[in-house]
Amino acid sequence: MQNTNNKLTVCSFFSGGGLLDLGFKDDFNIIWANEFNPEAAKSYQLNIGNHIVIDDINEIAKDMSTIPNADIYIGGPPCIDFSSNGANRGEKGVNGQLTWTYFDIIKAKKPKAFVMENVVGLAQKHKVTLEKLKHSFNESGYDVQVETLNSAEFGTPQQRKRVFIVGFRNDLGTSFVFPNGNTHFVTVKDAFKGLSSPQTIKARDKVLGNIPNHTATWTNPSPERIKDLHINPRPNQRVGLKRLDWDKPSYTLTAHIAKDGREFLHPDEDRRISVRESLRLMGVPDSYIIPSEIPLNQQYTLVGNGVTYQVAKALATAVNLQLTNAMKHNLKVSPLKSYKAKKVKVEQLSFDDLLFA
Ligand SMILES: C[S@@+](CC[C@H](N)C(=O)[O-])C[C@H]1O[C@@H](n2cnc3c(N)ncnc32)[C@H](O)[C@@H]1O
Repeated sequence: MQNTNNKLTVCSFFSGGGLLDLGFKDDFNIIWANEFNPEAAKSYQLNIGNHIVIDDINEIAKDMSTIPNADIYIGGPPCIDFSSNGANRGEKGVNGQLTWTYFDIIKAKKPKAFVMENVVGLAQKHKVTLEKLKHSFNESGYDVQVETLNSAEFGTPQQRKRVFIVGFRNDLGTSFVFPNGNTHFVTVKDAFKGLSSPQTIKARDKVLGNIPNHTATWTNPSPERIKDLHINPRPNQRVGLKRLDWDKPSYTLTAHIAKDGREFLHPDEDRRISVRESLRLMGVPDSYIIPSEIPLNQQYTLVGNGVTYQVAKALATAVNLQLTNAMKHNLKVSPLKSYKAKKVKVEQLSFDDLLFA
C-alpha cells in the first residue's frame, strides 16, 4: 500500500514510547501502532502521532481484520523472557509468547516486509526458539535475515547489542542486507555535551537547567549505597550500581535502570543519570520529550526498553531503499501472488535511481 505522499506504510507493534518508530517516521508513513501501557502511549502520541491504539495485542489479534494492512510491520515484542537479566522463561513465558503472537499477525496479514527486535538471549540461550521462528517465517513465505547489531558501532554512545530479524516476502525476490557499523565510538562526554549539572541549581530534586526530562533525585540511590560503590567499585558486575565513564560509550541501558539497585550514576556527580541523559545515551534527539506527568520510573523504563535512534534510522534507511528497489524490479508484488519471483541483487539500483523511481 503506497499512499499519497508516496511513502511506504508501516504498522508498529509493541510500540512503547516509539523510539523504534522515531527512526522510521521520516522515511515511512506510520499509519497504526499498538501499545497496552497507557503511560508509554502518551509519549508515543506526543512524539510520533495519534494513530496509536491502546489495547492488549492478544485482544486485537482475535480479529485480524482490525489491524490495517501496510507495507511493513515493525515491532519489538517484550524481551523479558529471553533476557538473562529478566525472567528468562523463554517462549513459554507470557511475554515470550508475544513473539509468536507477532509471528501469527505477520503470517495472517502478509506485509511485504517485517522487522522484529529482541535481546541477544534470543540468539543465545533461546536460539532454539529463534530457529523455530526463522523456519516458521520461511514456511509462511518470507526470506529471513538475522543479525546482532551493536548500537555503539552506529554512532550511539552506548554498548547495546540487540538481535534484529528482518523478513522480505518471497515475491520481492531479494534478501535483506543489514547495514554495517563502524568502530568510531561516541562517548558519554560527547553525549552529555551542553547538559547543565545539578551544581548549577540550588534546589535538589528539581529540573536541571531548562532542558525537558533533565531532573535528578538525590534520595535514590541513597548516599550510603553511593559511598559503598566508592569503596567497592564494580564496573564489570552485571547488576548493582554502576558509574559511567566519560571516555567510553555507556553500558547497556535496560528497563531496570531506575530500580532494583541497578541505577547508573553520572560519571562524576553522586546522582543517578537523568531521563534526558538516558535519552542522550540512546542517541535520541532532544526534540523527543517525555510528558512530565508520566511517573519517573516509567519514563526510565520507556527509555531502557527502546531501540537506539541510530540503529532504528540505519534499519529504516536500509529497508526503505532495498524494498523500493525490489518492488521496482518485481512489478507483480502483491499479497496474493506467487512467492517464486526471480532473485534481484540489491546493488542493482543506486540511491540516485531511486530518487527518480
Ligand atoms: C521492548 S518494548 C518495545 C519498545 C519500542 N520498540 C521502542 O523502541 O520504544 C515492548 C513493549 O511491548 C509492550 N507490551 C507488552 N505486552 C503487551 C501486550 N500484551 N499488548 C501490547 N503491548 C504490550 C510493553 O508495554 C512495551 O512497551
